[in-house]
Amino acid sequence: MKSIRIKSLIIHPLALGLLLVTLPAAADDRSFNQNERTDLEKLGRKIYFDESLSTPPGQSCASCHTPAAGFADPDHSLPVSRGVIKARTGFRSAPTAAYAKFVPPLYYDVDGGTYVGGLFWDGRVNSLAEQSQFPFLNPVEMHNPDQQSVVAKIRSGKYSGLFRNVFGNASLNPYNYQTAYGQITKAIAAFESTPLFSPFSSKYDLFLKGKANLTPAERRGLALYNDKANCFACHPSIAAPGQPGPMFTDFTYDNIGIPKNWSIPFLKLPPNLNPEGTNFIDLGLANTVAKFDPANAADQAGRFKVPTLRNLALTAPYGHNGYFKTIKDIVHFYNTRDVPAANWPEGEVPETVNHDELGDLKMTNQEENDLVEFLKTLTDGYGQRSDSRGSE
Ligand code: HEC
Ligand code: HEC
Repeated sequence: MKSIRIKSLIIHPLALGLLLVTLPAAADDRSFNQNERTDLEKLGRKIYFDESLSTPPGQSCASCHTPAAGFADPDHSLPVSRGVIKARTGFRSAPTAAYAKFVPPLYYDVDGGTYVGGLFWDGRVNSLAEQSQFPFLNPVEMHNPDQQSVVAKIRSGKYSGLFRNVFGNASLNPYNYQTAYGQITKAIAAFESTPLFSPFSSKYDLFLKGKANLTPAERRGLALYNDKANCFACHPSIAAPGQPGPMFTDFTYDNIGIPKNWSIPFLKLPPNLNPEGTNFIDLGLANTVAKFDPANAADQAGRFKVPTLRNLALTAPYGHNGYFKTIKDIVHFYNTRDVPAANWPEGEVPETVNHDELGDLKMTNQEENDLVEFLKTLTDGYGQRSDSRGSE
């Protein structure tokens, strides 16, 4: 978090701009067209849901960032996501792609003494378009050999006409595949920027508008969240100036001391995919900082970006390595990490763990449960009837 904290709960006027958006249940791309104003956004939707764009076919962006799963991975059987080659996984849990358009590019905040922004858990890219070029080529994700092959699939696919309408008749030319690949990422970013991804339609958003009431347990949870449990310090529950609603992240970095997760299949992948084997340690932000400021990278080891908590009830497991299966598990961790009797394993990168703001919150079991109840109010689509969802 930054050094400047907002202690009291003030509802920012910009938080009131609620957009009414329905969240369809089925993972059919045609169900998701109601927010698009432009052909570029429509093209982005086609690409985002296109399962032919992996090698072999079968995996799309939506496979790991499914609308009905809060734009995260619907497969909760592993702490991390499987690639299109099922025996392969990465070493990080798929974060939500929702509200990601609000993540600023990475910068160093001198006053707060912390890095802010950047996409991925370690902030290594600066925009949605830049981010979306990687999954296609990642050998533990969509596993395409190169950019040319992704462009070729779109050229011979169903929506090449739409692609050329948007980017011109000369587009998708094999001799200029780099341009086409850049256009693919631009279209995905445009789709991810539609209100479908950022509807601000949770029970809590409606509560801020005076259109829903929180239950007594949810209210107690909110009070704990903002004060005793100190969640507010890094996951603010009010909108910052200029934001259309609360983001539930200040986009900073921290090491909350999550233990190594031995159940990640990546640890056992062969050396061509994981050269360090079971010795692998995820250094997080340090890897990013090492590229431009190697002398100061060690200070950033073990720090990961504060994720939004929106749609939390849909996005299990939790933490960069999926260590926690339930919301209750991670709340209990925040509450008792530094209580010896709780017996938590040491953090994967012990040197930089934050012991000042979390770890021994002295909450009762009832208070933990109340906090969980509040966190469950952050799911979008509150009160929207499922029978009105997603028809074209
Ligand atoms: C196999 C699962 C998988 C697939 C397929 C996949 N992703 Fe992801 N996505 C992840 C994981 C895991 C991360 C986190 C990786 C990291 O931090 O190093 C991630 C991170 C992201 C983020 C960053 C969110 C943030 O707040 O930092 C966005 C946006 C995103 N993916 C969009 C996409 C798009 C667009 C596609 C398709 C081109 C895609 N993903 C395909 C698993 C997947
Ligand atoms: C000092 C800053 C800080 C404070 C205080 C804090 N968090 Fe976090 N939170 C983080 C960071 C950083 C991460 C990502 C850490 C990681 O994955 O290694 C995180 C991750 C999470 C996640 C995982 C989300 C996901 O999508 O995987 C949840 C849930 C969460 N925090 C809830 C809370 C709650 C509840 C509180 C209050 C009890 C709280 N946090 C207090 C910084 C903080």
